[in-house]
Amino acid sequence: MASSFSLLFLVVLILCFSNVLSLSSKFILHSDLIKPSKFPITMTEKFIRQLNVFPKHDINLVSSKEIEPVTEQRLFEKKLNLSYLGDSGATVQDLGHHAGYYRLVHTKAARMFYFFFESRSNKNDPVVIWLTGGPGCSSELALFYENGPFQISPNISLVWNDFGWDKVSNLIYVDQPTGTGFSYTSDDRDIRRNETDISNDLYDFIQAFFNSHPEYVNNNFYITGESYAGHYIPVFASRVHQANKNKEGIYINLKGFAIGNGMTNPEIQFKAYTDYALDMKLINQTDYDDINKLYPKCEQHIKSCGNGGEDACLYAFQDCFKIFSSIMDIVGDKNYYDIRKTCKGDLCYDFSRMETYLNYDQVKHALGVGNDIEFVSCSSTVKQALGTDMMKSFEVGIPPLLKDGINLLIYAGEYDLMCNWLGNSNWVHAMEWFGQRDFGAAPSISFRVDGEEKGVQKNHGPLTFLKVHDAGHMVPMDQPKAALEMLQRWTQGKLS
Ligand SMILES: *[C@@H]1O[C@H](CO)[C@@H](O)[C@H](O)[C@H]1NC(C)=O
Ligand SMILES: *[C@@H]1O[C@H](CO)[C@@H](O)[C@H](O)[C@H]1NC(C)=O
Ligand SMILES: *[C@@H]1O[C@H](CO)[C@@H](O)[C@H](O)[C@H]1NC(C)=O
Ligand SMILES: *[C@@H]1O[C@H](CO)[C@@H](O)[C@H](O)[C@H]1NC(C)=O
Repeated sequence: MASSFSLLFLVVLILCFSNVLSLSSKFILHSDLIKPSKFPITMTEKFIRQLNVFPKHDINLVSSKEIEPVTEQRLFEKKLNLSYLGDSGATVQDLGHHAGYYRLVHTKAARMFYFFFESRSNKNDPVVIWLTGGPGCSSELALFYENGPFQISPNISLVWNDFGWDKVSNLIYVDQPTGTGFSYTSDDRDIRRNETDISNDLYDFIQAFFNSHPEYVNNNFYITGESYAGHYIPVFASRVHQANKNKEGIYINLKGFAIGNGMTNPEIQFKAYTDYALDMKLINQTDYDDINKLYPKCEQHIKSCGNGGEDACLYAFQDCFKIFSSIMDIVGDKNYYDIRKTCKGDLCYDFSRMETYLNYDQVKHALGVGNDIEFVSCSSTVKQALGTDMMKSFEVGIPPLLKDGINLLIYAGEYDLMCNWLGNSNWVHAMEWFGQRDFGAAPSISFRVDGEEKGVQKNHGPLTFLKVHDAGHMVPMDQPKAALEMLQRWTQGKLS
């Protein structure tokens, strides 16, 4: 979960140990959706701290009294005037930068927050939506640390990102599922527990978006994201594609979906941890043989989980996580999102500026965020609610999309252990679809930017796999130029 950032590890711990949720009394709890935790909060905090983020609240649940009266308008959007934010220059206010809230129709009281940046180049550029993982981490992690139009300098002012994806696309970031980032509700029944509800919320949002921005409806549309979004993205893409087929809502010109260092097929990806760790010399052959003994139990529970056993999903979590933690016990204080790096003290990354910046009253005001809403960078409650979703595979929905010509790009930075390239490559190769054999036989070719090899790619028909060099979990953060090139070539059909 790293900024796109999927705090997958955090999630794992939370699920394993049934983390605690201390909700303040102002939150209204309607049900037992959120169970009190038996696990000391310190464990979760430790892992959140590795990112140097300290959300004040565990989730954005607010009392209904604090919510502004509901207007007729379901989508409320503001053009941003960020001119006082320092060094971005006076031109910022002239750009098409927007932030808004959408009142999710299929919820009791939830409002989804989003940013929308018009392309810096051309209105006809594709519309690209980005989803950060976690589950439960805000997409603003990617906006400010990976591929957004600007970054936050040490003195907490905005500086342009020369490789923002808004250079080649009309770019949307949403905070989801409900409770994450600036998205909030006053009713805990709105907290999402499965991909069906998550994809319905995203579908309702994107319909409302195109409804209020009809000038973009004919543009090509792409779904992108990272990490746990390897769960969200295939289901959301299927939701849009099915709606198009059924003539439900506004036709959305879905052309493709891309997942970076994703978690999509846990059965295959958990098996790959030891292979990757051995290849990268993180463990030796003895360790490898020992840790592999843990896999059969993990695999068995994942299979039962896939067959509908909700308890099995939790057992799968527990048993599969032992594989990961056994590797980390040997590896020590390396950053599991980038094994080249060592965590210093508690800190593996420093994403604290984002929290400082987004919690300024002036900034919240500019974004249309109420004073009572605090920015929740990563929500452990949202994560915990998806405890039985984690170990399910969402590969199954992909072959029908490929068959209908929707493009899929799977890319992965080579130094990420958490959602490593090998596990991703393995499931992509094992996936049964009409082009499976030809994809398997396709040659690996060099992905070059400015004459330099930045990765190795493989393609057949609508499917492309790209391993990115010199990058960890967050490819656009580590290789901003190559990531922008990747997006541009892929959306223009020129990657392969
Ligand atoms: C943007 O904000 C600045 C500082 O608050 C103000 O001077 C300027 O007039 C605003 N611009 C617009 C277009 O509202
Ligand atoms: C803040 O940092 C940016 C980038 O490092 C720099 O260009 C700018 O001058 C600084 N602004 C102030 C007010 O110190
Ligand atoms: C998703 O979760 C909701 C709320 O817990 C539940 O009503 C619904 O049946 C679930 N859907 C699926 C497909 O599991
Ligand atoms: C493998 O590594 C472990 C520590 O992880 C060490 O105890 C063991 O001696 C090593 N085995 C060999 C054969 O190098």
